[in-house]
Amino acid sequence: MTLRLGDIAPDFEADTTEGKIHFHDWLGSSWGVLFSHPKNYTPVCTTELGYTAKLKPEFDKRNVKAIGLSVDKLEDHHGWSKDIEETQGTALNFPLIADADKKVANLYDMIHPNASDTVTVRSVFIIDPNKKIRLTLTYPASTGRNFDEILRVIDSLQLTDKQKLATPVNWKPGDDAIIVPAVKDDEAKTLFPQGWKTLKPYLRIVKP
Ligand code: BEZ
Repeated sequence: MTLRLGDIAPDFEADTTEGKIHFHDWLGSSWGVLFSHPKNYTPVCTTELGYTAKLKPEFDKRNVKAIGLSVDKLEDHHGWSKDIEETQGTALNFPLIADADKKVANLYDMIHPNASDTVTVRSVFIIDPNKKIRLTLTYPASTGRNFDEILRVIDSLQLTDKQKLATPVNWKPGDDAIIVPAVKDDEAKTLFPQGWKTLKPYLRIVKP
């Protein structure tokens, strides 16, 4: 099944390093970042998981729960976790799904047979508190992801869910945003009493 933005993230049960979970129950009212890595005991994956563990305070601030997945067995997750702690200077502080039977990987289309028919690609799904998929990413095995970018997207989504705004190229929290075109100037006067700069009628810059 192809999962698209706005679809409900499929629910599942799985064994993880923190016990069996029922995904939707585990998410509760949080945002979620579900991401797959190709294989335990590999270098790029080791750095990605260590960095994600370091971001835990940033995820917590934003009400986000991270959860990793690979098609490795639970005992291998536990063994590899020790290497992550030793080499990346941080213990894993989020669950890792042991998906040896590829049930979740197939549900989320994380195996791309023309890349590899045995392991998952580097997938990311950002899921909102209504369980809707809000971002999908697919990276090749040879390229580690930028998890700061994943945080940045969450910041953009959380801002633009609350206000009738969009965020421009390379936006980061604190930067100016864009008033969405559907908001006419009359409504904008009420929504953005601080005022805005009109570069074109469709390009109005505002400090959120
Ligand atoms: C890595 O994490 O380094 C990696 C994993 C699978 C294929 C290539 C690289």
